[in-house]
Amino acid sequence: MAWKTLDDMDLSGKVVLTRVDINVPVKDGKVTDATRIERIKPTIDDILAKGGKPVLMAHFGRPKGQVVPEMSLGLIKDAVAEVLGVPVKFATDCIGGPAKEAVEELGTGEVLLLENTRFHKGETDNDGQFAASLAALGDVYVNDAFSAAHRAHGSTEGVAKLLPSCAGRLMQAELSALESALSTPERPVVAVVGGAKVSTKLDLLGNLVRKVDYLVIGGGMANTFLAAEGVDVGKSLCEHDLAETAREITKKAGEAGCEIVLPVDVVVAREFKAGAENETVPTTECPADAMILDAGPKSVEKISKILDGAKTLIWNGPLGAFEIEPFDMATNAAAQKAAELSKAGKLVSVAGGGDTVAALNKAGAADDFTYISTAGGAFLEWMEGKELPGVVALG
Ligand code: 3PG
Ligand code: MG
Repeated sequence: MAWKTLDDMDLSGKVVLTRVDINVPVKDGKVTDATRIERIKPTIDDILAKGGKPVLMAHFGRPKGQVVPEMSLGLIKDAVAEVLGVPVKFATDCIGGPAKEAVEELGTGEVLLLENTRFHKGETDNDGQFAASLAALGDVYVNDAFSAAHRAHGSTEGVAKLLPSCAGRLMQAELSALESALSTPERPVVAVVGGAKVSTKLDLLGNLVRKVDYLVIGGGMANTFLAAEGVDVGKSLCEHDLAETAREITKKAGEAGCEIVLPVDVVVAREFKAGAENETVPTTECPADAMILDAGPKSVEKISKILDGAKTLIWNGPLGAFEIEPFDMATNAAAQKAAELSKAGKLVSVAGGGDTVAALNKAGAADDFTYISTAGGAFLEWMEGKELPGVVALG
């Protein structure tokens, strides 16, 4: 890799400005999923073990340059301390007097959490002066926030240029998992891409067809591809205006030797609700007054066979309306198949982005995947083949 890691840095007695992503879901004052906090623990442990003083910079929500009390990181300070298992101090501002004093008072073995960086407009504007104020607090910069690396912000990009910098352990893990899935994968490589709309994933599909051997398309997106081939998808979610684009992607795939895999049978219903009366029909026989809500068992069988022969899988997005039963069938079955193969050491499986982790968790498959990314938007941008500013700045 082109960037330094914690192994390359002398941290003894140093103040280590560490960008983390602890943008976690909170309900009624409680953190409902602490995964992102758990995943930064190896980095914090290593910094402490090397005699460094970790000072955490992070954002929380999108306060747009204003102080928004409900988006204060003070609200999750105790949850951070509990997961990290060390005392966590808090500074009421991420720059200036309060931050400087808190850094000076920080003892060995303690962690300092700075207030939400996005309370300052300079963060999202990637303002040079704001980045300099952050840099003034520390000796070394560690970026462990892969999931925020698609943002060119002061704490993810600006400050990296001002201090000796390196990648944290989670950043390293994310990058190496993604590289093994798409940059230097063992073939055949399968991509499963689902979700509602083609329009949000055009760049992603365009990049993937050049890199993978099979592109399995599911969810509402599949309907757009089917309709583009002249299939009547009835009342299904479908972007008819993107028919030409879908045909172009299919053509590009053909030229690159990538097989696009669409459902051969589908589960259709008249209402979008849990338990709605439904039937399974061949894809070409969707009734005019019905909508496709899931892929059918024959489609799952086809996907399973492809997975059986594959060495690498990259997964983003559900195959059907997984949030309402029984239209989670195809997503669950394909996810469980991938999990089984991964557990047996036959498949390297990497998943990430938005709804994906929720869908794999619901399927009980997430634990057996080779790697589950903590990233939403950053994972998608990486799948699109884009350079992530936070990663580039470390190079
Ligand atoms: C996320 O939750 O996806 C990251 O923390 C990035 O947040 P953002 O989309 O507000 O930049
Ligand atoms: Mg996001």
